[in-house]
Amino acid sequence: MKKVAVLMAVLALFAAAAFAAPKHWVVGFSQIGSESEWRTANTISVQNSFLEDTSFTLIYSDAQQKPENQIKALRSFIARKVDCIVFTALVETGYGPVLEEAKRAGIPVIMIDRDVQASDRHLRLTIMGSDFVKEGEKAGTWLADYLKKKGLDDGKKQINIVELQGTTGSAPAIDRKTGFATVMKTHPNWVLTRSQTGNFTSSEGKQVMEAFLKADKNIQVLYAHNDQMALGAIQAIKEAGLKPGKDIIIVGVDAVKGAFEAMVAGEMNCSVECSPLLGPQAVQAVRDLRDGKKLPARIWTIEGIFDETNAAAALPTRQY
Ligand code: AHR
Repeated sequence: MKKVAVLMAVLALFAAAAFAAPKHWVVGFSQIGSESEWRTANTISVQNSFLEDTSFTLIYSDAQQKPENQIKALRSFIARKVDCIVFTALVETGYGPVLEEAKRAGIPVIMIDRDVQASDRHLRLTIMGSDFVKEGEKAGTWLADYLKKKGLDDGKKQINIVELQGTTGSAPAIDRKTGFATVMKTHPNWVLTRSQTGNFTSSEGKQVMEAFLKADKNIQVLYAHNDQMALGAIQAIKEAGLKPGKDIIIVGVDAVKGAFEAMVAGEMNCSVECSPLLGPQAVQAVRDLRDGKKLPARIWTIEGIFDETNAAAALPTRQY
């Protein structure tokens, strides 16, 4: 009888443990700012996903495009002894010491979207997001196919390309340039006549494109590291009396709604998708971590490519 009672008590303990509410975790999220439609969608996705799970409290910090604000935010998360840090690095360098501090404090760091430089990667647990090099390659490959399909590239006549780079030193700017340059190397008649940062914003994209056009209107292609800059550049092209999407072929990255509208209007030619909807994946990773599971070193996002052949059909279902 006594044995049965003990067994029942043990079983009850196991059942209680199995159904116990998950431990409440406080998570610090250091975001870079709000420079684009993409970024806004990304912030909302992360905030809403954590809000939906009441076993988490998210502390949000907006760095307003300043790496020093991110370092301050990470230090305040460490001082508050958060359970985990979710971090998007504005630029790749400069975060080594603060990541060391987080490691010493035993606080795991999960990167989303933008990574830190290779030599600091041992200080964070994982990175989830897009393959920016592949995005640059996809943009270049799309361009090669398009020029061929339209009979615009005989392999001899020079094709002048201008590039609007993202924020200097950021992972997407470095990698998207690298990926596109790889494809350029296989087309000796493609010439990068001008390349400058537009800081991922529409206003700077417009300003820089104005300067490009003022210097030389002989431009066949604009490659923009994000759609936001491409949309600003479209304004500059129109104001210069040229037809965007026709006189100048425009290739962007992100696949935000504005780019779809421009593609449907015939003013932009292609956008390589880069999904900002990383919230559900981020919450799942933090949950797994809390449950003691080992996270993969890299969690990739699967993404498509859009142009005049599929933009109109996809537009009504776009979420960002
Ligand atoms: O890091 C992702 C990039 O940052 C997006 O392409 C861009 O729109 C954003 O600002």
